[in-house]
Amino acid sequence: MALQINNLILKILVTGGAGFIGSAVVRHLINDTTHSVVNLDKLTYAGNLESLKAIENNERYAFEQVDICDAEELKRVFEQHQPDIIMHLAAESHVDRSIDGPGEFIQTNIVGTYTLLEQARSYWTNLPAGKKENFRFHHISTDEVYGDLPHPDEIDHSKLKMNNSKLPLFTEQTAYAPSSPYSASKAGSDHLVRAWQRTYGMPTLVTNCSNNYGPYHFPEKLVPLVILNAFEGKPLPVFGKGNQIRDWLYVEDHARALVLVATQGKIGETYNIGGHNEKQNIEVVKTICKILDELAPIAENTNIRPEGSALGMQNYENLMTFVKDRPGHDMRYAIDASKIQKELGWTPQETFDSGIRKTVQWYLDNQEWCKHVQDGSYQRERLGSKS
Ligand SMILES: NC(=O)c1ccc[n+]([C@@H]2O[C@H](COP(=O)([O-])OP(=O)(O)OC[C@H]3O[C@@H](n4cnc5c(N)ncnc54)[C@H](O)[C@@H]3O)[C@@H](O)[C@H]2O)c1
Repeated sequence: MALQINNLILKILVTGGAGFIGSAVVRHLINDTTHSVVNLDKLTYAGNLESLKAIENNERYAFEQVDICDAEELKRVFEQHQPDIIMHLAAESHVDRSIDGPGEFIQTNIVGTYTLLEQARSYWTNLPAGKKENFRFHHISTDEVYGDLPHPDEIDHSKLKMNNSKLPLFTEQTAYAPSSPYSASKAGSDHLVRAWQRTYGMPTLVTNCSNNYGPYHFPEKLVPLVILNAFEGKPLPVFGKGNQIRDWLYVEDHARALVLVATQGKIGETYNIGGHNEKQNIEVVKTICKILDELAPIAENTNIRPEGSALGMQNYENLMTFVKDRPGHDMRYAIDASKIQKELGWTPQETFDSGIRKTVQWYLDNQEWCKHVQDGSYQRERLGSKS
């Protein structure tokens, strides 16, 4: 049954709606609410309309292929569609790409966010009373803006115990200390959004979320890369010792949190969103391998073991290969998501075990999508190691 939030039927403009998280937001809005959606996306290598096939003909859905750096086009879209809420997800999002070529990240994440903010401000300023009070600009960001937390291996646990304290977490008050060109450009965009609120009174909200995983994830990121490489018998790159810790959140849980914040969050506030799932990267890789051993046993996988061949590989973990660590690699991210839980009643529905199993199964069942999104230049080669 459709869920109607605040009893209002809203028009929500989602930037980056053809990307991994944006497409989950668009599918959630169309499938589970009565709101309508305008998806504004440039369709870079990371944007794929195939991720929206199931809803593309819905009468509450519209698509605009527009660059967020194009002020004239943004103005036209605002005037034509008259949105009530903007959910801003469009970004360059891959840390390794930002190391090889930071320019695109500055352009889209900082200049693009600035251009969008200015067009949104002009649109909002001229809205009629009634519509103006309800307008909201929701900026979607990452926990990477906070830098990294000490790794448990580096902490004196006896001291922690003595002080009766726990391992530190990122809260909404944590100072910004980004490490990569990606996170620095996201931090810049967060600052712009808050400045537009403080200076011009724009009704903005910011969310900072931990690592997402799930269906429709472009196969350059760890989880889909490992699933697809393993299934095809290719090496599984593990950076450094693989002990970097991330807090993993299933993408559909994030999409629900975002719609909740956009429609019910308090103007001017920041909400951290996390999965309560701290895992070392190597644990993630091993878990995927174990699930694949079960769902696609090597003995039956003709990608790896063509009939009659006698390769020595017993399980998918044998494909793990340790490679030189990413420069400036953050060691640990972990989110304190108690504010969004307390104030908006959001908690993740998936555990890591249930979410990762669903994800592996989805990639096995959707090989066509994987082939199509990789028809362009990217072929799962290592990125971010030029420096
Ligand atoms: N993936 C994560 O784990 C994660 C975690 C926390 C926050 N975030 C943030 O969430 C947002 C979405 O992340 P994602 O993983 O879905 O990214 P993604 O790379 O999968 O998708 C980005 C989308 O933005 C579009 N886009 C890029 N440049 C554009 C431009 N100039 N104009 C219009 N559209 C443009 C792309 O075509 C693509 O559809 C980003 O802002 C990211 O920083 C991501």
